[in-house]
Amino acid sequence: MEELLSVKNIHMEYPTGKSKLVSIQNVSFDIHKNEFVSLIGPSGCGKSTILKMVLGLIKPTSGNIHLNGSPISENNLSRISVVFQNSALFPWLDVLKNVEIVLEPLMADRDERKETALKYIKMVGIDGFESAYPRELSGGMKQRVSIARAISTSPDLLLLDEPFAGLDVFSAQALREELLDLWLPPDKPPHAVLLVTHNVDEAVQLSDKIVILSKRPSTVIAERPIILTRPRNTRTEEFYNTVDEVIRTMSP
Ligand SMILES: Nc1ncnc2c1ncn2[C@@H]1O[C@H](COP(=O)(O)OP(=O)(O)O)[C@@H](O)[C@H]1O
Ligand SMILES: [Mg+2]
Repeated sequence: MEELLSVKNIHMEYPTGKSKLVSIQNVSFDIHKNEFVSLIGPSGCGKSTILKMVLGLIKPTSGNIHLNGSPISENNLSRISVVFQNSALFPWLDVLKNVEIVLEPLMADRDERKETALKYIKMVGIDGFESAYPRELSGGMKQRVSIARAISTSPDLLLLDEPFAGLDVFSAQALREELLDLWLPPDKPPHAVLLVTHNVDEAVQLSDKIVILSKRPSTVIAERPIILTRPRNTRTEEFYNTVDEVIRTMSP
């Protein structure tokens, strides 16, 4: 399998007075093309920090991160998109403009930008709301706009930082299934997904592989492939057993 993202020997420490606080001890994992990977671990273990490193927003104290074989830099950063827990939309822009804005550096033609934005807005089921402002939308709808915006640039890698954590259980479940429908057809971008979550059921439902982190200073406790056939029924004994195994690995 082709390697899309490689995170190698990441180490992160912060100065605290005279000593140092080691936040991330040694974290390595790979994501291959067509792979959905979840990164799970206790709150505060550095999951969001690792995502920010993949986005080039934070530099690790040591270690390196490569996308398609090249270090993360302004040259390949446009190949990565991200969705955060709090949709991070521009409140002063309507839905259409919130999506169009990320296309500006990629498409010079105004009509092409609009057409592309409308296509993705429809894909996530919020057509009809193009001229609504974020404050007029529910949490689930805002996350739909964020997802439309993230995938409209046809990224190689989609990063998701607890994107369903702020939603009620019904909206969260609907959006997980819709995300899978958008993701599953092969050979269409995004070519890989990295989901950060502390929800084990969610990780087992969505992932091909789960990377389990320890509490701080975080290391990779285990990498577990999830081989349940898709579409996954989350109410089977096999599913429950897999969730239990992951939980046991997290808290030995
Ligand atoms: N500037 C900083 N100084 C000291 N520690 C920091 C700083 N920034 C982040 N951290 C550490 O990073 C951890 C938070 O990491 P984060 O990536 O948000 O965790 P998670 O997403 O897994 O909940 C905190 O526990 C804290 O120890
Ligand atoms: Mg976090």
